[in-house]
Amino acid sequence: MIDLTKFYVTTPIYYVNDKPHLGHFYTTLIADILARWHRLKGEEVFFLTGTDENSQKNVKAAEKAGKDVKQYVDEMASIWKKTWEKLNITFDDFIRTTEERHKIAVYEFLKRMIEKGDIYKGKYVGYYCVDCEAFLTKSDLVDGKCPIHKKEPILLEEENWFFAASKYKQALLEYIEKHPDFIQPEARKNEVLNYINTGFGDISISRQSQKWGIPFPNDPSQVVYVWFDALINYLSGIGFGYDEEKFKKFWPADVHLVGKDIIKFHCAIWPAMLMSAGLPLPKHVYAHGFWTVKGEKMSKSLGNVVDPVKLAEKYPLDAIRYFLIRQVPFGEDGDFSEEALVERLNNELADELGNLVNRVLTLAERFNVEIKGRPELEKELKLEEIDKHMEKFRVDLALAEIWNFVKACNRYINEKEVWKLKGEELSNALYNLLESLRILSILLYPFLPETAEKIRRMLGIEEGQSLNDCKFGEFKWKPKKGEILFKKIKAY
Ligand code: MSP
Repeated sequence: MIDLTKFYVTTPIYYVNDKPHLGHFYTTLIADILARWHRLKGEEVFFLTGTDENSQKNVKAAEKAGKDVKQYVDEMASIWKKTWEKLNITFDDFIRTTEERHKIAVYEFLKRMIEKGDIYKGKYVGYYCVDCEAFLTKSDLVDGKCPIHKKEPILLEEENWFFAASKYKQALLEYIEKHPDFIQPEARKNEVLNYINTGFGDISISRQSQKWGIPFPNDPSQVVYVWFDALINYLSGIGFGYDEEKFKKFWPADVHLVGKDIIKFHCAIWPAMLMSAGLPLPKHVYAHGFWTVKGEKMSKSLGNVVDPVKLAEKYPLDAIRYFLIRQVPFGEDGDFSEEALVERLNNELADELGNLVNRVLTLAERFNVEIKGRPELEKELKLEEIDKHMEKFRVDLALAEIWNFVKACNRYINEKEVWKLKGEELSNALYNLLESLRILSILLYPFLPETAEKIRRMLGIEEGQSLNDCKFGEFKWKPKKGEILFKKIKAY
């Protein structure tokens, strides 16, 4: 169940060893759509994103760039933040794990775990993949290499601080059982259960061999393990340890959006950490699939990344947003190609939505009649279904349902041959179509914010409408045709 008054959504915090690619944009875009939707519902929304800066990957990237690590992460964090701003992402805060407020939260969190008796000193011997920033067991390896990064892991032997995570194994299994929609989509749940049942043990949460990171409390010879500190961003970003009121207002998170590769951390380790610190668990973790290019995962190490900023210089940002959401069922992998993007832009955005808006406004301008009538098109609007999909984070299904309404409006024009109507019938048809466009300008706003805004302006209606206004009623429009919404693209 979603809290009716607040909505807290997070993205993973991103490593800053490179700039954002389309896969990162995808997660952040979904968070943006959910945040905008819940704002439309009048809820108090907090949308957190940020950067994961205490990783060895960042140290290596700084060395490669010939820069001091701090200077490097500062520059890169600023690139990430500016990229999201440029891409119209409406985050409420941007947490950096090198910030003082984050350190305060990590220390408060660890203090609670220490008081609980869950932290002890032990010896770690095992494989470690620096690119994953994670331990691997022998059975994880394929031909002696990390299956994701195709690199040999290092053999690590250290005296570390450990978290007695295994204490929480049973409680975790029970929690997952009792909260069937905690892990989504459903298919991911088995993967997590399997991990908890077979591979879940105590976790080393400090590093002796590393200098870059948050010093371990009372043991400056070690730094806190990067994943351990990174997960706590979801708390430090909302005031944990320094703004109790804000923290109480927003925690627990309504949803953590993550990629399928980091589900173990979010659905097993993070909940165990929270149980140890005596804090409630997030309500949902939703794992999405990977964007691939010609079937290969888009990743820096494979060198096939698509830069969302460059893409947005070539295509309208709203077309990219539309494509990413419509192209794949949320949770599954999807293949990116400009060809597929252009196809959707031409066939759906230009021919269906653009054409609808253009036709209605042309008719409204041509026949300057009084606009009133009976709400005939209202039955085509499945508002409850749309909202249900959004409550289940199924942005793809919600947008598909909104699109059915767009299609229904086009059908209405064709079937009624509105351009031939006269008198009351014409007035009625225009009423239905203008009201439909007004409602579309609200519903489309989370998905296509610039387009929705253009439609609103063409209708001559005021800003600040909410989901409550998505019903047919009396309205004072001052319709005026504006620019074409989407120009078709011939070559790409
Ligand atoms: N820093 C950790 C997350 C810590 S959260 C407490 C991390 N960072 S990451 O930069 O490597 O990846 C961030 C997210 O991007 C992950 O959810 C990952 O799944 C996602 N993606 C990376 N490549 C992707 C695709 N090709 N497609 C879709 N998302 C992908 O992991």
